[in-house]
Amino acid sequence: MALEIRTTRTTHPKALPAPAELGFGKHFSDHVLVVDWSEKQGWHDARIEPYHGFTLDPAASVLHYGQALFEGLKAFRTDAGDIQLFRVHAHGERMGKGAPRLCMPALETPDFIAAAKAFVNVEQSWVPAAQGTALYLRPTLIADEPFLGVRPSSRYKFFLIGSPVGSYYGGDALKPVRIWIETEQSRAPRGGLGAVKAAANYAASLQASVRAKKAGFDQVLWLDAKEHAYVEEVGTMNLFAVFGDTLVTPPLSDSILAGITRDSILALAPALGIKAEERRVSVRELIEGQKNGTLKEVFGSGTAAVISPVGELSTGTDKIVIGNGQPGEIALRFYNEITGIQRGARPDTRGWLTKVVSSASVSAAAQL
Ligand code: COI
Repeated sequence: MALEIRTTRTTHPKALPAPAELGFGKHFSDHVLVVDWSEKQGWHDARIEPYHGFTLDPAASVLHYGQALFEGLKAFRTDAGDIQLFRVHAHGERMGKGAPRLCMPALETPDFIAAAKAFVNVEQSWVPAAQGTALYLRPTLIADEPFLGVRPSSRYKFFLIGSPVGSYYGGDALKPVRIWIETEQSRAPRGGLGAVKAAANYAASLQASVRAKKAGFDQVLWLDAKEHAYVEEVGTMNLFAVFGDTLVTPPLSDSILAGITRDSILALAPALGIKAEERRVSVRELIEGQKNGTLKEVFGSGTAAVISPVGELSTGTDKIVIGNGQPGEIALRFYNEITGIQRGARPDTRGWLTKVVSSASVSAAAQL
């Protein structure tokens, strides 16, 4: 049965921050969407309410054993005034596939889409218009049964909040970043949680990224946990390298997240006339590629930043400098193509956009 969502609107709407002040994940819109799950009732009591905190029992299992999974997707305002979600179906499917890895129930994809649409519809005024901005949605699933035995919870909560965002790293979205090649710690082992958007993966990444930042780097390059030889992800993003005229990215595995921007890049590459390969890439190959001139570009891809060019990779002893402080040509082409589709400036030939509000309905409502 489809989810029925009840809405209680805030009586104290806040003002949208100025585009220059947005940053990433600092501001929150006026409402929260919540759905509860119990063994007896399944998903029930779906509601959009004025933004508020939760009361969690101190014994709630998420606080002890970390059953927590999240998504991140964006709603865009086009120049014509429409509001549209980018690849909401893919995000719903990914959450649906990830939840069983943590023994959690997930919303059916149509319910996930309905929840995201209903939320964005209520939060229309929170979708910023400036280039490079969006309303970032954070759907999250947590276990909230008060119980200290180690087993899956018998109660869960799905919630969705919205954050108007600008560029992920702040400032110039395409400024190449400096990356530390992490050879001690791992983000995710084989057989672990790395392929799903578990909160625990991000906890596992924090110490190395704090160390990298202290050493003057922006983020870390994650290598495979067994040999520490092959590249897996960069910061919170999938990784791409350009050797000669070929775009290369590591194949998905149980330690690499199936990024939706990664998938979009691979889907768009043929139409842009770019050869793409999914294959393992070693740090050695990156070092050799820089030495012999075949390594042209390295960049990360993710929903938050879209594309994040890498200007330098370093182990302390080996330093790989890529480009001249400017984003590479291929990174830029993908950035322009993807952000163009998201904002309605380039055609969406793949059905990636879901319209939530059409400018026609907004102007009709204004005339009433
Ligand atoms: C993304 O790149 O979209 C991410 O996953 C980063 C997010 C956790 C802030």
